[in-house]
Amino acid sequence: MALLAWNEMYSVGHAMLDSDHRILINLLNQLHDAAETGQSREVVGTVVNVLAEYTEHHFRREEALMAAAGYPGLEAHRAAHRDLEAKVRDLRDRWNAGDRSVVEEDVLEMLKKWLTEHILGADKSYEPWVEGIADSGGSAGGE
Ligand SMILES: [Fe+2]
Repeated sequence: MALLAWNEMYSVGHAMLDSDHRILINLLNQLHDAAETGQSREVVGTVVNVLAEYTEHHFRREEALMAAAGYPGLEAHRAAHRDLEAKVRDLRDRWNAGDRSVVEEDVLEMLKKWLTEHILGADKSYEPWVEGIADSGGSAGGE
């Protein structure tokens, strides 16, 4: 069973950022499923690594978008991102070092809590600023 389902209440009013958040939710579910079904070290490790990488990628472009929008809460938000990504990186490093507790239920619940609280709190706050900003944030030339 999925750990977390996308819900319209998670929408931050920006298609690219909503799509990123869906991908992060999806990766968290993949990690949960891989752990629950006893997948190999390699399979779980791949998901943990992709989750850490995508988290950083997403945070960078969310920050670029907030900067482009002149969002006044950018610095505090950036600090929250650094903190979150350090935690995810730490999980990845622990997994790569052989610590299997990284995919235990309580750790996954904690990740789920971090992600949903961040989206519903910090991310929701920038909604009025980024609504009209094009998706040029993190990729040169945009899509
Ligand atoms: Fe954020």
